[in-house]
Amino acid sequence: MSVKVETLVLFGATGDLAQRMLFPSLYNLHVDGLLEESLAIIGSGRTAMDRVEFHDQVRAALAEHLPGDRLETGAVDAFLARLDYCAIDAKAGTGYDALAALLGERMERPIGVYLSTPPSMFGPIAQGLASEGIACAECRIAMEKPIGHDLASSREVNEQVGSAFAEDHIFRIDHYLGKETVQNLLALRFANMLFEPLWNAQAIDHVQITVAETVGLEGRVSYYDGVGALKDMVQNHMLQLLAIIAMEPPSSVSATAVRDEKVKLLRSLRRMTAEDVKAHSVKGQYSSGAVNGAAVAGYADELGDPSNTETFVALKAFIDNWRWKGVPFYLRTGKRMPQRKSEVLIQFKPVPHNIFARVGAGKLDANMMIINLQPEENIRVKVMAKQPGLDRDGVKLKEVTMDVSLSHSFAGERRRIAYERLLLDFIEGDQTLFVRRDEVEAQWQWIDSIRDAWAAVDMPPQTYTAGSWGPSSAIALIERDGASWHD
Ligand code: BG6
Repeated sequence: MSVKVETLVLFGATGDLAQRMLFPSLYNLHVDGLLEESLAIIGSGRTAMDRVEFHDQVRAALAEHLPGDRLETGAVDAFLARLDYCAIDAKAGTGYDALAALLGERMERPIGVYLSTPPSMFGPIAQGLASEGIACAECRIAMEKPIGHDLASSREVNEQVGSAFAEDHIFRIDHYLGKETVQNLLALRFANMLFEPLWNAQAIDHVQITVAETVGLEGRVSYYDGVGALKDMVQNHMLQLLAIIAMEPPSSVSATAVRDEKVKLLRSLRRMTAEDVKAHSVKGQYSSGAVNGAAVAGYADELGDPSNTETFVALKAFIDNWRWKGVPFYLRTGKRMPQRKSEVLIQFKPVPHNIFARVGAGKLDANMMIINLQPEENIRVKVMAKQPGLDRDGVKLKEVTMDVSLSHSFAGERRRIAYERLLLDFIEGDQTLFVRRDEVEAQWQWIDSIRDAWAAVDMPPQTYTAGSWGPSSAIALIERDGASWHD
């Protein structure tokens, strides 16, 4: 086990993610007694402010983002006592000397630097730290996504950060990996005998992965319009889900074993050509409509400009290996969808021979397993059952649902913010739930093939009404194959 971080330095401490997620998560860990007494947290941002002003800001963020019953005054004060602040202008490269002075003797002890900043700052910050000697052998660094905007730029970021920190001290965050339900996919697949023998092209017809959101731009105009759904959601969260669903069994849950399998899988994704994207991809952009009964503006109106950025993408992907030969993986993500849901659907093949056909039972529905990741947490398996009766005019079969509600089964447990797990693992030095360099590069390799093919065929996004499930061509994408999205 690695040594624990003794000082956490948080860049971007006045930003939205820090206020909404990172401080509430750290506070929760503090209240649950999971942080060492000696752990100090130094927030850093461009704005000059003193410790008291910073404490006021964090206190307000906790009050806004945590339920009142978690916020006992003594606990908040004890948490704030860990917190200090240091203004650093990462763009100008100033303030690192002040950080070094504030760290004092702590410079010699393990430091964890968490970057919740624009990605263009990752390289400069890593080097700014190194220049002040704040990248010691036991220091580690965590970075939010995205790592670059394509393969070439991600390599550049990885090189820059890698010149100051060793790979086993670099923690690339994909917050989906911190979600309990995503980790549960590992348990489902590898802690049960039931599914794995059927988890292959012999038994599975296709897989669907949907990550649908009801939100629109959420004030992230300057970030989102240069990025779009493919890079914002597919490159990271959806490919991580796909990798966990489809990888070979790792020999253990160690960081190396799990990440070796994920990277093998990601490298087996069939790259897309211009012909492929025409047949196997759909880009969409929402126009005005209604979500949950409330009228919402279209993307271009929210942006204030016409734009070709996609807010929806649907893809039919193939994995070129023995296990998944010929099995389509349909991926779909979009903003302003009718409901928020992240779901994996495994559609099994029909039984090879219907023994009930002669006695009037008709067609049998093939089994289906639906794994809901959020907001509901459940696993449902659709199976055929005999309807009660004497069967005088033939056997009647009906699809019924085996329903395992995880929220129900673990009702007493507090649902943790994904970042609680990730921050704790970062502090303790466990990289299992963080993305390795070769993984992120394999993800970009596949995404670049789609982006290049899109550019070659000049595919502007198709319009879909906010509150719908995307452009009609996304429905056609799967229905051409005789299947349909599970909505
Ligand atoms: C982020 C994306 O990584 O994930 C956002 O940048 C998206 O656009 C968010 O809204 C979704 O995360 P979650 O946890 O709400 O599903």
